[in-house]
Amino acid sequence: MIVTLLWVTLLIISLEVRQTVSNISNFTYVEKVKYGENILPHVWNSIVYDDGTIVLRVVHEDLGSNKLKSNETISNTTICLQNSLSLRILYPNGTVIEQDVDLGIQSLNYCISKLDVNSDFYDPIKLYALNTNYVLITYYNATNELDNSTYSFWGMIVDWNGNKYRPINFGATIFSMRNKNIICRNINPDKGFLRLSTSSKAIKWGQYIM
Ligand SMILES: *[C@@H]1O[C@H](CO)[C@@H](O)[C@H](O)[C@H]1NC(C)=O
Ligand SMILES: *[C@@H]1O[C@H](CO)[C@@H](O)[C@H](O)[C@H]1NC(C)=O
Ligand SMILES: *[C@@H]1O[C@H](CO)[C@@H](O)[C@H](O)[C@H]1NC(C)=O
Ligand SMILES: *[C@@H]1O[C@H](CO)[C@@H](O)[C@H](O)[C@H]1NC(C)=O
Ligand SMILES: *[C@@H]1O[C@H](CO)[C@@H](O)[C@H](O)[C@H]1NC(C)=O
Ligand SMILES: *[C@@H]1O[C@H](CO)[C@@H](O)[C@H](O)[C@H]1NC(C)=O
Ligand SMILES: *[C@@H]1O[C@H](CO)[C@@H](O)[C@H](O)[C@H]1NC(C)=O
Repeated sequence: MIVTLLWVTLLIISLEVRQTVSNISNFTYVEKVKYGENILPHVWNSIVYDDGTIVLRVVHEDLGSNKLKSNETISNTTICLQNSLSLRILYPNGTVIEQDVDLGIQSLNYCISKLDVNSDFYDPIKLYALNTNYVLITYYNATNELDNSTYSFWGMIVDWNGNKYRPINFGATIFSMRNKNIICRNINPDKGFLRLSTSSKAIKWGQYIM
């Protein structure tokens, strides 16, 4: 139950002198909650904020729905995870806050898959750093999981205290690894974020104000 990661401090810029100071050391943190026998936490992805805070997403396999044992290597397959968004907020002063958020989204969002050995894992859930204290999570919502024409793409904002805000419907989509969604923060993060979406017929972008 130990998450180890490399902590890298990057840039210190002042007006007169431009200096790069780099420092690498290990940061070790022991998870407080156990998610079941033989279930190890995996640091799945991370986002970084302007104030230096890092938010990690930690995932735990759902052994009940996976034939894989937790000590086996993940291969070209589909792995389902426990249905909770486990965020670990790492403040620059070393404090770690654990937030396990029940997003109330469909289980299909918690299965990650790989088409072949060389491809990347496709994860229906994506995280984006917004302004300090806020994370944007994108996911899928289907009225009929078996019918790919009933899927829509959604976003939900969660804060570092684990509070959820009203979901945003980005519109109908096909559940596919080939979907291209580009989301970035407004250059002034207080003004929300921009989303560029592409389909076979059009490219469109939208601004979302928080
Ligand atoms: C890098 O980190 C180590 C351990 O925390 C510290 O002793 C050292 O002074 C740091 N170096 C710089 C250049 O900040
Ligand atoms: C971090 O930990 C690893 C494994 O224990 C070790 O090999 C490495 O040298 C450590 N790095 C630093 C900068 O302490
Ligand atoms: C995985 O764990 C099982 C028991 O839980 C053990 O028998 C097996 O040898 C382990 N495999 C590896 C690759 O460590
Ligand atoms: C670390 O920073 C966070 C956020 O600013 C604060 O809530 C917490 O009390 C700080 N912890 C320590 C030990 O200073
Ligand atoms: C899923 O979509 C339905 C409408 O089809 C909506 O009422 C519901 O709030 C959505 N759920 C989530 C978690 O986005
Ligand atoms: C999955 O990987 C195994 C070996 O790791 C390979 O034999 C098999 O062909 C792969 N399947 C696909 C669909 O790529
Ligand atoms: C959607 O489903 C239809 C019918 O099942 C299938 O023919 C089509 O290839 C699917 N589209 C995608 C993008 O998966």
